Amino acid sequence: MKKLWGGRFTKGTDKVVEDFHSSISFDQRLYRHDIRGSIAHARMLGRQGIIFPEEADTIISGLTAVLADIEAGSVEFDVGAEDIHMNIEKLLTERIGDVGRKLHTARSRNDQVALDIRMYLKEEIYVTAGLLAGLEETLLKLAERHAGTVMPGYTHLQRAQPVTFGHHLMAYFQMFVRDMARLKDCLERANVMPLGSGALAGTTFDLDRDAVAAELGFARITENSLDGVSDRDFAIEFCAAASIIMMHLSRFCEEIILWSSAEFKFIELDDAYSTGSSIMPQKKNPDVAELIRGKTGRVYGDLMALLTVMKSLPLAYNKDMQEDKEALFDAIDTIKGSLLVFTPMVETMRLNEQAMAQAARGGFTNATEVADYLAKKGVPFRNAHEIVGKLVLDCINKGKSLEDLALEEYREASPIIEADIYDAINIEKCVAARNVPGGPAPAVVADSIKRGWEWLEDIKKNFRF
Ligand code: ARG
Repeated sequence: MKKLWGGRFTKGTDKVVEDFHSSISFDQRLYRHDIRGSIAHARMLGRQGIIFPEEADTIISGLTAVLADIEAGSVEFDVGAEDIHMNIEKLLTERIGDVGRKLHTARSRNDQVALDIRMYLKEEIYVTAGLLAGLEETLLKLAERHAGTVMPGYTHLQRAQPVTFGHHLMAYFQMFVRDMARLKDCLERANVMPLGSGALAGTTFDLDRDAVAAELGFARITENSLDGVSDRDFAIEFCAAASIIMMHLSRFCEEIILWSSAEFKFIELDDAYSTGSSIMPQKKNPDVAELIRGKTGRVYGDLMALLTVMKSLPLAYNKDMQEDKEALFDAIDTIKGSLLVFTPMVETMRLNEQAMAQAARGGFTNATEVADYLAKKGVPFRNAHEIVGKLVLDCINKGKSLEDLALEEYREASPIIEADIYDAINIEKCVAARNVPGGPAPAVVADSIKRGWEWLEDIKKNFRF
């Protein structure tokens, strides 16, 4: 088949090469963006008198018809036409004749592909941010319900100090707030229009780049033609942001997996979000959480692939960059798929509040409170720490908890201790007393939730989804 670029060639491409370098199998998902970009380009060419306005009109209606054909599923893409850009140009020319061959005036596939990916990514950032906002909303609602649900907080996966489930959820909320800011930031860098960069050195035609940017909804145009065609930072930034989101999801998933074990019994996943075993009839497995945890690795891989493809590439365009798409698409698909299933899984999981409270109670999570009690009565904290350490050891030997110790036992350890110690070590009161800003006290968490709702409102307004 004659190539669109075949003029200087005397021989066709080897079939093996054709299959090897064709990207149509994966870049066909850019067809809408490619056509929209071409329509804006053609309109501008007509308006600038670079082609006749009637020619621009014919091209635009031709492209609109090609779009309809693709959407109707009546188009078979041609591997020989290499990529989505040349496939569409070919379909256009088949439809409207030679005037279709004018579309590529003052344009290169290099600035065209840079445009298409940016348009595509911008859309997907909105979708991802919308899913993330949905998760944030779910976390706020759950945190509201559980601002007073006591559970142990952990360090080293050892019970440490009591917190609430609401506080725990709001920790994740904060992570996703930062993730949202990263997405917004990435959007800003993707929101720059590269058409007009040409192959690498711009064009001699008198283009109106700003008009194209405005028609396509870009905030501004790229400043440098070499950079315009060879920049893929925005794709790398998206994969980095997606990697961090996946990292956060994987931490949450790990906890969900632990919590649904018989050893913890803190939660039970809804049947709709768990799966069984083909051999062990009793099993109910947290596969969804495990899969998200596993898919985190894929997205890190996508990021690493992009960074490695771009490493050491000389300016400007190099064919290596065609490898950007599959990694980016995979990261986008994976993050969206993960968020789509994660949110309802969390929304529908059932809490075993009793098991949580009991775990908070039995494991000396209030030992710091006894030390604080002594410190507040003037005992230097290091001494208090020592005294309570011995008390805990005593408890372990006797198989008791701090709540079980008699007042005499406390007073043996330190005569300063009085009957109000029981109040001080009451788990609910321990949590309520941790009312420093940022702390787990229900009142403080309630404040944080309130600010969370305000943030969500704000994000919805200025992210426009
Ligand atoms: N399919 C190519 C890509 O994705 C389009 C740009 C091709 N440009 C070129 N000079 N071969 O990168």
